[in-house]
Amino acid sequence: MIKASNIQKSFGKLHVLKGISMEVADGEIMTMIGPSGCGKTTFLRCLNGLESIDSGSIQVGNLEIRSGEPLLTEVLKKVRMRLGMVFQQFQLFPHFSVLENIIEAPVHVNAISRQEAVSIAMDLLRKLNLEDKAHSRPRELSGGQQQRVAIARALAMHPQALLFDEPTSALDPRMTGEMGALIRALAHDGLSILVVTHDMGFARRVADRVSVFDQGLIAEQGSPEQVFSNPQSAALRDLLTESA
Ligand SMILES: Nc1ncnc2c1ncn2[C@@H]1O[C@H](COP(=O)(O)OP(=O)(O)OP(=O)(O)O)[C@@H](O)[C@H]1O
Ligand SMILES: [Mg+2]
Repeated sequence: MIKASNIQKSFGKLHVLKGISMEVADGEIMTMIGPSGCGKTTFLRCLNGLESIDSGSIQVGNLEIRSGEPLLTEVLKKVRMRLGMVFQQFQLFPHFSVLENIIEAPVHVNAISRQEAVSIAMDLLRKLNLEDKAHSRPRELSGGQQQRVAIARALAMHPQALLFDEPTSALDPRMTGEMGALIRALAHDGLSILVVTHDMGFARRVADRVSVFDQGLIAEQGSPEQVFSNPQSAALRDLLTESA
């Protein structure tokens, strides 16, 4: 279970997160929508300890991040290992092969043997239909394939949750459908999934619950049916009008 309580975050004078609270259960898919600049990526970065928080707290299982926690503590390292992040730009190492990208953290951070890491990585590549790309470099792969490598790399650490930042922004409709199926399969295996997206159809189809962000706050939250069939906030009505 992941629980964020009243998270606040400023960059200098810019008050980006003004009190975000959210709970995501094991096996649950939460999609997060909201206008550009409202703080969605910042929230994901705070959750997995890439940004410090100014107030509030974050619980990940039995771990707790409090405000004022320096970014290099043991608890933050553990949180980062439990919450896999799939960044919008994937952030693969360009000079490593696909396989090397996936085994790097298990070998160096989790300290498992190279042989075991390779075996886990090859299993993941098979599952994600990328077996034949194990020895390619990231630049030799399509955008969708690079993204699946980024997912495999996160899964190789056996995370409790995966955080996705705009996973469908570079995908065609068929690949978007496949990403939705993959996300549901991962949730079915018990992972908590948090997805930031600008794709309203995707946010509705894939979610168990939806959070609507607006200017650093959650304007509304609920099941996809509740939220999309009966939008309560001006923020969501604007989003729906713009995407129609
Ligand atoms: N490291 C940083 N330093 C200063 N300002 C930042 C930093 N990161 C984000 N911001 C600012 O915080 C605000 C929220 O940014 P964030 O990336 O969280 O938005 P977002 O909701 O993800 O937007 P988008 O949908 O465009 O990706 C923006 O005004 C952004 O310029
Ligand atoms: Mg963003």
